[in-house]
Amino acid sequence: MTVVRTIQEAREARATFHRLALVPTMGALHAGHMSLIAEAKKHAPSVAVSIFVNPTQFGAREDFSKYPRPIDEDLAKCEAAGVNFIFNPSADQMYQHGAPEIVVDLPALSSVLEGKHRPGHFKGVCQVVAKLFNILSPDAACFGRKDFQQLRIITAMTRALDWPIEIVGCTTVREADGLAMSSRNQYLTADERTRALSISRGLMHARQQVAEGIRQTNRLLTTMQNTLLDVGKLGKIPVSIDYVAAVDPMTLKPVDTITGPTVLAVAARVGMTRLIDNVVVDPSDSK
Ligand code: PAF
Repeated sequence: MTVVRTIQEAREARATFHRLALVPTMGALHAGHMSLIAEAKKHAPSVAVSIFVNPTQFGAREDFSKYPRPIDEDLAKCEAAGVNFIFNPSADQMYQHGAPEIVVDLPALSSVLEGKHRPGHFKGVCQVVAKLFNILSPDAACFGRKDFQQLRIITAMTRALDWPIEIVGCTTVREADGLAMSSRNQYLTADERTRALSISRGLMHARQQVAEGIRQTNRLLTTMQNTLLDVGKLGKIPVSIDYVAAVDPMTLKPVDTITGPTVLAVAARVGMTRLIDNVVVDPSDSK
């Protein structure tokens, strides 16, 4: 496995592969990332993983400095998974030209949900993903559906800028008890982790209601909210909700009545840790 840290070396390494699939990551790799790597292998014979905690997508009061960076473990996991090449640049390397004068912004998709609670976040994501696409020229790139808004925005950006890159959305990997895998889960204490289960439980409960025929999203959002706020059997640590939402998967606009695929999404803080999760519900899945 080739590991490179400069843009120049990355371009040289890239040139030695024919078709390449990219898995962009911020490291702290878990089973969710490994499933992206497995999916990437289905889309190209060679796989590159980028490991870069991108400062431009973190807000001033967010967890950039404490974000986990277990690079040796990450490299070992990638090697074991048969990754061909790793791009692990420093922030100085990625942003050597200083503050960018060009940002890619998709305001209609970026100003809602996560974008509303994390102003500037998606400008940072688009900036770094655009740079990675330009440096590594992948034929395909894999992103998790847990960050469904990020996936939607990157898909739209790629189309709008005519990159010949297949954007692949990959299924959210969950722990046995339903918690969506996230590098941020390692911030949770045991009590907080138990409490964090109210996020996936609320979503699964709402999905069950759709299967039973409920179509009014206000009822589903109430279910999700009540599950999140219930300090009952999942412990007493309070959860604070940033949003619960039912949105169209393409436009990200709110949906009142479910008539087609709809994303139910949650962002909530458990203790100091902010977590997101979502499920797609479809009335055609009803019993
Ligand atoms: O999803 C992530 O880990 C990051 O947002 C990404 C896509 C690697 C960009 O920094």
